[in-house]
Amino acid sequence: MCGIVGFTGKQSAAPVLLAGLKKLEYRGYDSAGIAVENDGLISVSKVSGRIANLCEKTKDGALLQGNTGIGHTRWATHGAPTDVNAHPHISNDRRFTVVHNGIIENYMALREELIEKGYHFESQTDTEVVVHLLEMYDSGDFKETVMRTTARLEGSYALGILCADCPGTIYAVREASPLILGVGVGENFFASDVTALVAYTRNAIYLEDGEFAALTPNGISVFDCTGAPIRKEISRITWSIEAAEKGGYDHFMLKEIMEQPRAVKAALTPRLQGDEIHLDGFDYSAEELREIRKVVITACGSAYYAGCAGKYAIEKLCRLPVTVELASELRYSDPQIDSSTLLIVLSQSGETADTIAAMKECQKRGAKTLAVVNVVGSTIAKLADHTLYTWAGPEIAVATTKGYTTQLTVLYLFALYTAEKLALVSEEDYHRLLSQLQGLPKQMQQVLDMNTAIPRLAEKYKHNSSVFFIGRNTDYSVALEGALKLKEISYIHAEAYAAGELKHGTIALIDEGQPVVALCCNEMIAEKTMNNIIEVKARGAKVLAVAEKGNRTILSQADDVIYIPRVDPLFSAAVEVVPLQLLAYYTAKEKGCDIDKPKNLAKSVTVE
Ligand code: G6P
Repeated sequence: MCGIVGFTGKQSAAPVLLAGLKKLEYRGYDSAGIAVENDGLISVSKVSGRIANLCEKTKDGALLQGNTGIGHTRWATHGAPTDVNAHPHISNDRRFTVVHNGIIENYMALREELIEKGYHFESQTDTEVVVHLLEMYDSGDFKETVMRTTARLEGSYALGILCADCPGTIYAVREASPLILGVGVGENFFASDVTALVAYTRNAIYLEDGEFAALTPNGISVFDCTGAPIRKEISRITWSIEAAEKGGYDHFMLKEIMEQPRAVKAALTPRLQGDEIHLDGFDYSAEELREIRKVVITACGSAYYAGCAGKYAIEKLCRLPVTVELASELRYSDPQIDSSTLLIVLSQSGETADTIAAMKECQKRGAKTLAVVNVVGSTIAKLADHTLYTWAGPEIAVATTKGYTTQLTVLYLFALYTAEKLALVSEEDYHRLLSQLQGLPKQMQQVLDMNTAIPRLAEKYKHNSSVFFIGRNTDYSVALEGALKLKEISYIHAEAYAAGELKHGTIALIDEGQPVVALCCNEMIAEKTMNNIIEVKARGAKVLAVAEKGNRTILSQADDVIYIPRVDPLFSAAVEVVPLQLLAYYTAKEKGCDIDKPKNLAKSVTVE
């Protein structure tokens, strides 16, 4: 998984490419490179490490003259993150150079074929086959050469291609990897996502799989896979540049945690009209809803945990069986899914490869699909029958926060909407739950305001090498996300357990001083969790409890308590997760970790 950018215009290309790559760094940051064409000659500069290293090496781009170029920030898949494996790759005759996001699945066979034909490989990457294919198929017609090359490729790819013989022209090709064209005045761009474009233009063309484009300073021509020209709509990017900046916080993650009340409000407000819920992208009639026999939720990472939390609300309110499946597992299983299944696909980026594959597998079996995604025009949004955007705005920190809570909010809306349509909820309950939903942003804000002691708690708990998170029911689903947050950014081993399961094994691991974060917010089951807290305390655990305001009993057992406002248990996960995000954040900060870019992780995992 990587980020790619391209530019052609009148200004110097290298600084534009470097600025774009900085915005895309969250997609991968183990090496980076740019290639710039000048008077029919291509210069390439690439280096392992962050974009900052590339800026230093190229003197902020000043060392590469020219007005047309391509750039890449890498997250290694094939071959270690070295200078040689960094993109762009260049053909042996130095006339073609390529940046690539995705995986060329048949690269081994192509590599052997090309080596036999005398092409010399420098890197271990799958991508390098593309430049040699371009050289091999070069017919003197750039477009034809690109088409003959891509016809040989299997897998997923967004490619940016530069040819020394065609000054001022870049080709951009999309197949199962994100790629957006930026339409400027006397200059044009491509990038893996809009954050790299907004500083230059707000006019974008979203390429579909199988489409490719030729960009020159004065125009963009888009073609389908047969090479026939096609007309594409120009969309307006509404995200502001400031929205993608840190806004005064030390880290994007903290900014995004703080933004949650606003983000959740943005997900709710346009869908609440008076007493009615309007789901813009999902206009099923009661008749159609009745045909749904079961709901399957699929996703990866935190989005999967949002599904685990949302399941309770959907099952309870809609009286439908709900299973939550890890996309990486679902794609290779033999799921009992047919046209009576509603598949809900959760993804912040809308580009997660495993999620896309699971979705396609279920679609083959006839499932109806509802996507809940943040990034407009993303692959999952396009593939789905219906899409509900989470409207969280750009999320830059690798560890998701507002992405998760807005996904959850949309699931809650879906649950209440469906229950009402199917007449499964009394008018009184409907109104009560609706007002609970409307109150979520305020309650999240209260959590942020109330918990000024979390940095101190982080300081206290930061030295532990392992932390357990326990809870039951909705509290358990939040424990899963809380543990993931802590391990992702502070590198402390953290595991979540259903509190009732402790006695079946895990309690053996509880020793003197073992920290346990106990989630005890779901009032229906709080008493049971309290018993588990007593059990771990009896074995020497140090307990940090999260409980509802007013719960005084917890004070007698827990060493520390974080309070949250009272929320209906069905919707409490969205509020309860906030102190856990803060705990993870401040623990990582105490430990001096690279919070926005944790090691070995990437924001958008567009490879399997
Ligand atoms: C990566 C990110 C996680 C995210 C997961 C799913 O692993 O680091 O934070 O939850 O991908 O991403 P998605 O964009 O599909 O929600």
